Parts: sequence; C-alpha cells; structure tokens
Amino acid sequence: MEKKREGWGSRFTFILAAIGSAVGLGNAWRFPGLAAKFGGGAFLLVYILAMVVLGFPLLMMELAIGRKMRSGAPGTFKGINKKFEAVGWAGVGNAFFIVCYYAVVLAWVLFMIVASFKFGGMTGDPAAAGGVFYGDVIKLSSGITGSYDIPGGMVIALLVAWGMIYWCIRNGAKSVGKVVKYTVFLPVIFLLILAVKGFTMPGAMSGIKMYLVPKWSALGDPNLWIAAFGQVFYSLSIMMAIMIAYGSYVSKSNNLVKDSAIIAVSDLGISFLAGLVMFSTLGATDNLTNLQASGSVGLAFEVYPMAIVNFSSVGAVNVIFGVLFYLALLTLAIDSAFSIVEGVSTAVSDRFKLNRRKTTLIICFIAGIISVLFATCSGLYWLDVVDYFCNNVNLIVIGILECIVIGWFFNTNKVREEINLNTGKFRMGAWYNWIIRIVCPLILTGLFVWNFIDYIKAGGYGGYPVWVQILGWVVVLITFGCGFVAKLLMKKHPKLKEIDYDERTWDEMDEDVVPVGQEDAE
Ligand code: PHE
Repeated sequence: MEKKREGWGSRFTFILAAIGSAVGLGNAWRFPGLAAKFGGGAFLLVYILAMVVLGFPLLMMELAIGRKMRSGAPGTFKGINKKFEAVGWAGVGNAFFIVCYYAVVLAWVLFMIVASFKFGGMTGDPAAAGGVFYGDVIKLSSGITGSYDIPGGMVIALLVAWGMIYWCIRNGAKSVGKVVKYTVFLPVIFLLILAVKGFTMPGAMSGIKMYLVPKWSALGDPNLWIAAFGQVFYSLSIMMAIMIAYGSYVSKSNNLVKDSAIIAVSDLGISFLAGLVMFSTLGATDNLTNLQASGSVGLAFEVYPMAIVNFSSVGAVNVIFGVLFYLALLTLAIDSAFSIVEGVSTAVSDRFKLNRRKTTLIICFIAGIISVLFATCSGLYWLDVVDYFCNNVNLIVIGILECIVIGWFFNTNKVREEINLNTGKFRMGAWYNWIIRIVCPLILTGLFVWNFIDYIKAGGYGGYPVWVQILGWVVVLITFGCGFVAKLLMKKHPKLKEIDYDERTWDEMDEDVVPVGQEDAE
C-alpha cells in the first residue's frame, strides 16, 4: 500500500460519489420489486427499521474502518486482525457475483431505451406495455430448464453494457463519476413526475394505501424480513468491499456521522419514491392482486412501461418520456456498476500487486462470460436465484461476520473513536458498541436461522429444482472460500510470497497517511 493515498478532494465529492454507488438500480428496480412481492406496507416498515437499526450504523462502521486503515476491504480486515482477512475477501467475492447480474439488468435498461419506441402505439394500453419486457426484450422462456437462446437484442445490449462499464473505469472512474454524479438528480425528477402523475390516476389510491399501510400478518414471513435487511445492505453498497474502499479515501476532517446520514437518507428517499410509482401504477392498472405470484425480479420492468403509456394521451410524448426515463435510469445504474467492478479490481490488484488496468479487464471479461447466462431466455430465473443467494445469504452472513470480528475480536471503542473524530455534537455514545456487538449479530443470526428453517421447509428457494439450489450454495461457498484461496496463493506461490505487504495493524496506523486531497483528486 502506498503511503499517501489520494483523497476525495472535497467532502461534497465524496458524498456524491458514495451516493452514486449506493443509489442505483437497487433503488429503482430491486426495492419496488421486493416491496410489491411482499405486499407493500409491511415491507416498507421493516425496511425503514432495518435502515435505522443496522444500515446506518454499519455504513458508518465500514467508512470508519476504511478511513483508519487506508486500504480496501481485505487489507482493512487484515489490519484489524490478521486472522480475518477472509471476511474482507468475502465482500469482494459477493460483489463479483453481483456485478455479473447487475450488468444484465443494466443491459435491460439499455434495451428498454430502444424498446420505448413501441410505446407510441400503446397509449392508454398498460397491459400491452407491460408485455414488452418479457415478450420483446428478454423473450422469457417458461421455466429455468427452458430455452437457452439469447435474443439478438440482448447480445448487443450486454456487449454495450460491458463496453460502457469498462470504458468508464478505463477513463478514470473519477472523471466519469464527475459527470454522472450530477445526473443523480435526473432520475429523481422523472420518478417524481411519474409519482405525481400516478397520484392523479383513478384507482391509484388503493395502491398507495397498500404501500403505506402495513398488513401486520405479513410480518410473520421470515422471507420478508431477510429480504428487507439484505436490500438495505445491497442498496447502501455495504458488505461488499465498496464502502470500505470508499472510506479509505475520506479525509480525517469529514464528519462520518453526518455524511453517512446524508447517504442513507438520500438512498432511502429515492427507493421510497420508486415504490410510490410502482404502487400507484399497480393500483391504477388494477394489478394489485397476485403480486407474490408474479415475483419481483422483472416487475419494475413490467410496471414502469405501464406508467409511461399512461403518462399522456399522445403517443409521441410517451415515447420521448420513455426514452428519457430509461436514459436517466442508465445514468443511475452506471456509476453503481463501475463502483462494483472497481471494488473488486482494487482489492485484487492491491493485494497481489497486479497491474490495475489488466486486472480490471480480466475481471470484466470473466464476469462478462458469466453474465451471458443471465441474458438467455431462461436467464431471468437464474438471476432470481443468484440474486437470492447473494443478498439473503451472503450479505447477511458477511454482516454477521463483520460485526463479530469488530465487536468481539477487536475493540468497538477504537472504531467509535475513529467515527467520532470530527463529529462534533453527533458523537456516537457507548450504546454504539452494543449495536455492533450484540444487536446486529443477534438480529442477523436470528433472521438467518429463521429463514434457513423456512428454506428447508419449503424445499428450497422459489420452487427451483435441487441442482439449481446446489449451484446457489456453490455461489455462497465461493464467496466465503475466496479469501482462503487468496491467502493460500500468497503463502504458497514463490513470486507472491516475496510481495512486501503492508503489515501495519490498526494501532500502527499513523497520521502520515491522511489523504492529500486538497484539489480534486485526479
Ligand atoms: N447499491 C447499488 C444499487 O442500489 C448496487 C450496488 C451493489 C452497487 C453492489 C455497488 C455494489 O443499485
């Protein structure tokens, strides 16, 4: 690790970059889909609870340990306790799997920009518009063992998606980020327009009621709880090596409590807005029943078109609105996408002292090949499975491990000290220790066990065949195993053995590594 790391330049730059990573398709696609799948109000309630109780404290924790150790996730955990570098690697592994399918969702968005031209002839016909995604874009087959053809359009969209991700990183994520971070507000404006429009539609109120008024009986479903907690982690980009890496560039003068609060509130706000659009449209189009059956992965891509063709009575206007809306989603998604790839490639190239650009290219290439599976006509089912294991198993278990390592094998007071450096009156009190040591691990372990029992009882997730479930667990195994493989490689390989690692521990970190960052880091 170099002694001096570039800083973020200004506090504002850092906050916008972190928001850029956090706010993405997770807000516009994943959150509303899950909210609909779990019946609205109850999910929203648990989600907000999870954000306050776990999301916000853990976001602060990740930023703080990254800032202290001035290193990516593996290096940071190594500095905290030599034995636990693998916890950092698990985050990297999980991020890798996520980017494999995130790129495909990005490709869907790209495809929808073009498919929006179809909306011209569908004015006032939401049923037809809802079918565009399944019928024209992904050409969904009837089951996971169905067709493995790849629709021609998807091939192009996926290539463009990967090309864009690589191009952005190659040209310096920072310079691209600079543009993209200002467009963060664009999708918000479009979502706002759709939400306001949605409010005025007859029938919308029943949807909004469903979204805002919790159905208490739904709280008995362990799947709802774990999905909400997993979504909080996913949406904040925590437990996947990214926020630790981002934290490593943050200046000591930042107020981490305030910054984390700004990131979390913006993230929550945008998700909330997307949910409003989803539910008002579902209400207005009389689609509030049978949501559970229709699943969550494709739902947002089915419902936004319904809102778009209801937008005005002029076809051409709707087409323009649709194109702009998906372009806005693209700007939302691209910075999240490259932040994931960057997180993985930084960790690998830092630790193995590899050429950064080559590493990025290789990672894009491997992830690109895997992502082809999700672009096939049966890909949506695979995406559903991998998404489930990445979020409902990996993220939760990494959350448990991070809290246990920091709370029990390290000293929470030290982390709190780092958080409190420049927090003024927002200081975290001793209660914060209890959140990390007891509350987080207990809640997450409880949810995990509760969910696992349910998983066994249900005979697996989503009614998919056993071999599919096994592959899901393989994803889990690789995620948690990659740290051990990395360690083994470093120990055994003669060349790698020579690499001179930064052996500093937490207590040995001194102030000479405060980021320079006076001017915009470039
Ligand atoms: N947080 C991003 C979103 O909500 C997704 C993401 C996941 C980004 C993983 C980085 C890492 O879309």
